[in-house]
Amino acid sequence: MSISTSNAIATVDLSFGWKSTAPVLDKCTLSVPKGEFWMLLGTNGSGKSTLLKLLAGLLTPQSGQIQLNGKVGFVFQNPDHQLVMPTVGADVAFGLVSENLSHIETQARVFDALSAVNLQGLHRRPIYALSGGQKQRIAIAGAIARQADILILDEPTALLDADSQSDLVVEVRRLVKEQSLTALWVTHRLNELDYADGAFLLKQGKVTDRGNPARLKRLLTD
Ligand SMILES: Nc1ncnc2c1ncn2[C@@H]1O[C@H](COP(=O)(O)OP(=O)(O)O)[C@@H](O)[C@H]1O
Ligand SMILES: [Mg+2]
Repeated sequence: MSISTSNAIATVDLSFGWKSTAPVLDKCTLSVPKGEFWMLLGTNGSGKSTLLKLLAGLLTPQSGQIQLNGKVGFVFQNPDHQLVMPTVGADVAFGLVSENLSHIETQARVFDALSAVNLQGLHRRPIYALSGGQKQRIAIAGAIARQADILILDEPTALLDADSQSDLVVEVRRLVKEQSLTALWVTHRLNELDYADGAFLLKQGKVTDRGNPARLKRLLTD
């Protein structure tokens, strides 16, 4: 397999099924260029979360290949399933435990990551006191502190109100561009396509359409 190094994420003929009869992903091939913000669309049950879990290494493909050019950070739909420590600073630092950094290095990483998501003032804030949108930004800060290059976000705005929804998509686009990250974002909200560099449509286990997000938005709105 040769995959261009200009892609941060690539899959080739990726297949996965929970039962042998009905594959969820059926020779699914896609690629996301480095430094771009792409969205993944598809009806409920079309396999979007399964695809992201395969990319994150949480599931093992039955066949096919995955190539990731960089470290992956995963952001769940529900941040309450992701944030585990009592305060913001402790939560972001918790993700760094395995790296055996000094206290000073850890604090610097946490500070930089919180600054990246514009929440540097919330270091000591209890997690329970955050809004849903702030929680998602803390989950993203956790990935940035671990020096993730690739953000994989599974319906990160599904539980947010309309204002926090549009703030988050703007924020992630800014981060991708300013920090040279790559992001793959699953959504049902077609207005979010306005912020994407490109989009995929997943249907019956394959990418059936890809490319210009404005075109896909029109296609799915009609
Ligand atoms: N843990 C699981 N065990 C068995 N089947 C599952 C499991 N998770 C998802 N599925 C099935 O796999 C298919 C794809 O699910 P999913 O990837 O969650 O879709 P989407 O995220 O697009 O809504 C669905 O038919 C779903 O019922
Ligand atoms: Mg899903």
